[in-house]
Amino acid sequence: MVLCRGLARATATMLAFSVLGCAHVDSGRETLGRVAAGGVPERAYDQGVVTAANPFGAEAGARILEQGGNAIDAAVAVAYALNVVEPQSAGIGGGGFMMIHLAATGQTFAIDSREKAPAGATRDMFVGLPNFTVQSLSGVAVGVPGMVRGTAMAIESYGRLPLAQVLQPAIELADKGFAATPRFVTSPNCASPTSRAKNSPLSAEYFCPGGQAIPAGTVVTNKPLAETFRLIAQHGADCFYKVDLAKGCDIALGIVEGQTWTRPPASDGRAGSMTLADLEAYQPAVRAPIEGSYRGYKIKSMAPPSSGALTVIQILKMLERFPLGDASKGFGFGSVNTLNVMADSMRLAFADRAVWMADADFVPVPAKGLINDTYLSGRGAAITPGTRLLQQGVPLDQQGTLLSSDPRPFETAGLAPGVRLAVAEPGPGTENGTSHFSVVDKWGNVVSYTNTIESGYGIGVFAGYTRADGSVRNHGFLLNNELTDFNTALTTNPWTGSVGFNDVQPNKRPRSSMAPTMLFSPAGKPILAYGSPGGATIINSVVNITVNLVDHKMGLQEAVDAARISVASGGSTILLENRFANLPALQQALGATGLGYTVNVGDVGSVQAVLIDQQTGKQYGAADDRREGLVVGLPRPRGR
Ligand code: GLY
Repeated sequence: MVLCRGLARATATMLAFSVLGCAHVDSGRETLGRVAAGGVPERAYDQGVVTAANPFGAEAGARILEQGGNAIDAAVAVAYALNVVEPQSAGIGGGGFMMIHLAATGQTFAIDSREKAPAGATRDMFVGLPNFTVQSLSGVAVGVPGMVRGTAMAIESYGRLPLAQVLQPAIELADKGFAATPRFVTSPNCASPTSRAKNSPLSAEYFCPGGQAIPAGTVVTNKPLAETFRLIAQHGADCFYKVDLAKGCDIALGIVEGQTWTRPPASDGRAGSMTLADLEAYQPAVRAPIEGSYRGYKIKSMAPPSSGALTVIQILKMLERFPLGDASKGFGFGSVNTLNVMADSMRLAFADRAVWMADADFVPVPAKGLINDTYLSGRGAAITPGTRLLQQGVPLDQQGTLLSSDPRPFETAGLAPGVRLAVAEPGPGTENGTSHFSVVDKWGNVVSYTNTIESGYGIGVFAGYTRADGSVRNHGFLLNNELTDFNTALTTNPWTGSVGFNDVQPNKRPRSSMAPTMLFSPAGKPILAYGSPGGATIINSVVNITVNLVDHKMGLQEAVDAARISVASGGSTILLENRFANLPALQQALGATGLGYTVNVGDVGSVQAVLIDQQTGKQYGAADDRREGLVVGLPRPRGR
């Protein structure tokens, strides 16, 4: 059976560019991810592949590859283009993690452009704001944005093209417009009085003009954003972070004023504390990935301030002793046993994550201990197919939630210099936040990049300020609410007695779950780049894809399409996708009348992946129809 990405099909006619997104019969080898069930080989390329959650984003990256750019240039082009066409998820008002593998040197590292708390942030800044909705729509939640300096660093250090050229596709999309995709027009939920997109007059008018949803296919421009991008293209990243009115650089004024536009204003007058000095001081960091292994494959993923790598590796290592993929032993895809042990591994890892993982520039994250084999074999020892993990050696709290353990005795050596550690909780209304895209170029450089403004539409406010004459200067991009990834209540680490590792501190990065990941062959060659949005469920999307490829021997696109399971706490609530063919039976076997989990049903993530066959040099891509994912592979097939 040959399948195209569903939404790629739906939007294909709206594209000004040529696109492709189908798996076709082709010659292939039965190795990781190349061949799907039924023997259908994935479509192969050799001049580069870009996969993104929006077709215009994928096309922007492909254009840059065709102009001689490398994977780093293309990934930056995707990031800026997505700010135009998927503005609710990520953009220059936020930050992210760009995992890079350089073919020439074999080095793998990440540029961390995660937002930081302003110098004026306080541990109790969210205390008293009644709930997540109020907290996450408040200027208090806005972190100092990192994407512009992070991407500039990437281009200057590792790119082949000038920043101005790389930004050109995004400038064109913002200036000349694009045909609004179904997701662009439905995501604002214009009919809802609580729509996040409508939290300020400028954003409300842009996403819901006259209070109405934009019809799909309408050509939408964002001229203020085009102007902002032009300023960055002409004057560099500093034009975003420093005020220089002689050059027209006034973006920082709009960020600082934007984070005070809380709607409705907090009763005590609370607003964001970010200053121009916070913006000027922001610097990205280059971090070594956290490394682990799964059934002989090497995994490299995002170090703290993300919990991504540590939690992914914890879960996979606890799963390694089960014969996943062996249907004859009861561990086939979607079987009760498989989902049971995946759920309990996730619960244990998430209990540790809540206590130990945070910004390692500020707190002593025991990163080696958390993924130490001996620690994890003890931690996962009680997982037993056919039972829901309750008490067998794992302490519970009053609500029956699994508790963390203490990995510090397994912390046998200090971290390598330069390794720093960090993560995030999912909140209501976050389904539109964050975007993941992956790129490989013709030289074999690979990028796995997850970018975010946290919740869908961030705080729902465009950067902008009021001029002396009373007119409003709009910069056309949304401000993040990343600081709600901190603990919003005051917490204590139960093992150390100290302040909770992920409590707010000035200049600290909030814990993330973003897990831009790469899988390597036992010999250390890159095979796969992948990741997902979805708050804490990001971690579980990465685990599902890994298990689908390595254990269930799926083709790449099949692995992305397959139903996922997610558990994002030590509790017993699990999320299953309704794509499980046997969902009613699973609900019964895993639910109240079976193993006793509370089973919710919903979508999990949006994975974009690229795969490289190190023997043939062939490249493959998969995109996710849970959003509007698209693969653009080069060379383009004739007629496209
Ligand atoms: N904004 C999603 C995360 O950092 O986990």
